[in-house]
Parts: sequence; structure tokens; C-alpha cells
Amino acid sequence: MLYCGKKSCFVAVPSVFMFVILLTHYWKRSMFQNDTPRIIYVEPVPTDQTLELCGGKPASNTIAALEDNRTFIVAPYFDNRESKITRVIGIVHHEEVTALYCWFCCQPDGEVHVSRADIDVHSDRFDFPYGAADLLCAEPPTCDPSYVSIHSFPNGNIEQLPRFEIKNRKPEPFSADFTVCISTMFGNYNNVLQFIQSMEMYKILGAQRVVIYKNSCSPLMESVLAFYIAEGTVEVVPWPITSHLKVSPHWRFPKDGTHIGYYGQITALNDCVYRNMYRSRFVLLNDIDEIILPAKHPDWKTMMRSLQEQNPETGVFLFENHIFPNTVFTATAVFNISSWNAVPGVNILQHIHREANRKDRYNPRKMIVDPRKVIQTSVHSVLKMYGNSLAVSNNIAITFHCREPYEPDVPKVTLIRDATLWRYNASLLINVNKVLHKSGILKTMLKP
Ligand SMILES: *[C@@H]1O[C@H](CO)[C@@H](O)[C@H](O)[C@H]1NC(C)=O
Ligand SMILES: *[C@@H]1O[C@H](CO)[C@@H](O)[C@H](O)[C@H]1NC(C)=O
Ligand SMILES: *[C@@H]1O[C@H](CO)[C@@H](O)[C@H](O)[C@H]1NC(C)=O
Repeated sequence: MLYCGKKSCFVAVPSVFMFVILLTHYWKRSMFQNDTPRIIYVEPVPTDQTLELCGGKPASNTIAALEDNRTFIVAPYFDNRESKITRVIGIVHHEEVTALYCWFCCQPDGEVHVSRADIDVHSDRFDFPYGAADLLCAEPPTCDPSYVSIHSFPNGNIEQLPRFEIKNRKPEPFSADFTVCISTMFGNYNNVLQFIQSMEMYKILGAQRVVIYKNSCSPLMESVLAFYIAEGTVEVVPWPITSHLKVSPHWRFPKDGTHIGYYGQITALNDCVYRNMYRSRFVLLNDIDEIILPAKHPDWKTMMRSLQEQNPETGVFLFENHIFPNTVFTATAVFNISSWNAVPGVNILQHIHREANRKDRYNPRKMIVDPRKVIQTSVHSVLKMYGNSLAVSNNIAITFHCREPYEPDVPKVTLIRDATLWRYNASLLINVNKVLHKSGILKTMLKP
């Protein structure tokens, strides 16, 4: 048994050792079920090791590589829904990472506790060698550590390891009813008009916050993000995954030597759920070209109130995706607004025809979840949860998805006219114009 005090570590005398063995045994029996990780105490650490009081280098990036270059840490979250654990959201190589340890440093005396992580690689890896993973570590029962370091070994020098702040330690009051999680912005994204329209629709429908995992975007898009950050709506999480791994733009492994699918989308979504677990009543998981669009209710709040009343045990609500091809325009010039034509991107108000359901093809769904009921999420469903998941009827709402068509050759007559979006035209027009003016986008675009 190793004790680390303010400036040094020492090995405790045998009687203390026996006491700790008994105590550890008791903790194991009383706190943890069969499959939860064990607390393991470090044995051989050099006794002359000096230790800063809970030192270690603070981690600075959202995605931090460990020394093995096979493990990438996104963020640790306190999770006491089942037992007192730290859940570290990360990315691991599914075969090559076999053992990881959480190093907790307890205040005020700087005592270090090490526990072995249960490495839970999410089942939706789609054959890529790297996947989203939860590293589940039992916390010391005697303290509530603020930081954790992750290491491949149960011994070493904690000062050399980056330390990560454990979030969600103190539940905070809700600061949002609805938070939209957008994963991930990449490829020098420049669909500015559609981005602003989606943002304004989210706000009209009830969002107070939109979290964007940003890999890359255009300079014009940067200025739009800056506008929304200043407004207090957007939170940008840097997503430098391309500095660490070869990403694929596909969701399924094309066996092309890439490491992870779709810019690590699944990991970003899981981080977003935990990041907003105690800040937001609901979290929406969709892409920026998608809007969960109610058909009966005016907004998400009234819709979710009704859905929850009818389904009290449900924490995950799934909305069927429908493609509104951005190649098919309304017949009339309605909503062809001349000042908007100067702004790069799609004007969704001009696309109100959706593809009919394809025979024998599964229509994916996007989600509104109670984040506190979610354990592990994928893109179109939640993999592990408390309570039920419900496929919401198309009569209640659909996921409006304005993009290139799945089936470009389908004649327009086979498309279904669906102008639900137009119900919001008045406020959408006013709000988009306000943003284009206030953000200076129009001025930039109309510059000679
Ligand atoms: C990890 O990557 C860094 C830089 O990319 C390299 O210097 C280091 O040798 C690598 N370590 C291992 C264990 O592969
Ligand atoms: C919109 O109007 C402009 C002229 O202001 C025209 O050039 C363009 O073709 C129109 N687009 C559509 C889709 O009707
Ligand atoms: C635009 O919205 C208003 C209500 O705000 C509605 O009366 C009008 O019909 C809508 N326009 C179209 C073309 O649907």
C-alpha cells in the first residue's frame, strides 16, 4: 500500500496494510457489482518520488493522445447513476488497448488512488479499428477527486501525466430546455445560409444552446460562429481528430487504412450527451442539415410534454429522417430572396418536396433524448439506456433533412410536397435577415 503525502510517498506499516486489505474487501463487496471495475492500489512506486499536491499537467486539448498513441481522451465525467464512478469518454484501438488505469488524486492531502478501467468499446464501431469507448473507473470512496490521469500502467509518476478535470461533479440547475448537439463540422464547411436557417429554426422550436464539434470550416463560417457564440447560443468544442487519426468520411469501414468513421462522430455525440446531462432537460442529436420538425405542435416543448405524458417510461424519442433534395426547387419563386442569393449555401425554404420512403430500405432516425436516461448513444439509436426508446410517428414530427438526393434520377412528380417548414416562414425570414445584418455577413458578401 502506497501513501502519497504532500511532498513524498511512503509505504505504510503492515498493520495499516492489513486494515486496508480488509477495507478494500469491504468496499468491493458493498459498492460494486460483478462487472464493475475494481479499485486497485498501487504497489511499487519509488519511495523517493516527490509529488506536487495533486500535480500533473493540465490537459489542454479536447482530444488528448496518451503515450501509447492508441488511446485518446476526450473528457471524464462523474457518473453516480449506478455506483460512484468516473466515466472517461475517449477513443481507443479496439484490440491494441488492453489495460488502462485511472489515477485519482485526492484533496487535500494529495493521496493517490489508482483503479483499473473497465474498457467498454461501443458496439457501433462499423469495423473501423478505432471506436468510441467508455473507460469506467471506480472512484475512491473516501474522496471526490476533481482530476484524473489515465495511464497504461498502475505505477509511474503522476506528475508526468496530463490530468483531466472530472466534469458533472456538482449538478447544476438546468440552463436549457433543449440543447442541439451537432457532430461534426468538417471539410472547410461553408454552407452558411443553411447553417443560419437551421440555427434560427432550432431557436424558434425551443433550443437555447447548440453545441458544435468543429474540425474545420471556412473563414466566413468562423465569423457566423463568432456571432452565435457572442449571442450565447453556440458552444464550439474544438475537434482536432485529424491531428491524431486518419478519418474516413464514411460511416462504415471501407478497408482503406483509415482509422475511424465519420470524423469520430459517435464519440462527439456521447461527449455532448454527458456534457449536457445536468444542464439541459433534453438533448437533440442531429446534423446541421437536419431539423426535427413537429407536424402538430408549434414547438419542441409542447410536443415533448405531450410525448412524455403518453410515454412516462421513455427517455429516447426517435424521429424518421426524410430527404428534401436540395436539387428540387419550389415551382414558384416564393422565398427566393435576392439578398440571400449573395450568401453561400442552401436556402431550405425553397425545398419542400421530400423523397417517398424507399421500398425495402430502412429509414434512419434522429433523436431527442433525456440525457440522464442515456448511457451510450449511437447516431440513429441509443445503445445503452435506462427506460425505453420510442419510434415517434410521422404524424407527430419528422426529421427534415435538406441535402443532395439519395436518388437523383427520381422524377419530381414522385416526390411528396410537404410545406411544414413554411409554417415558420414569417419568423424565420425576420430572424435570418437580422443575423445576416448584425453579423456583418451581408456586408462582407456584397463588398465590391
Ligand atoms: C506516438 O506518436 C508520437 C508523435 O506522433 C511519436 O513521437 C511517438 O514515438 C509515438 N509513440 C509510440 C509509442 O508509438
Ligand atoms: C432566384 O432569383 C434569381 C434572380 O433574383 C434567379 O437568378 C434565380 O434563378 C432564382 N432561383 C430560383 C431557384 O428560382
Ligand atoms: C407564411 O406564414 C404565414 C403565417 O406566419 C402564413 O399565413 C403564410 O401562409 C405562410 N406562407 C406560405 C407561403 O406558406
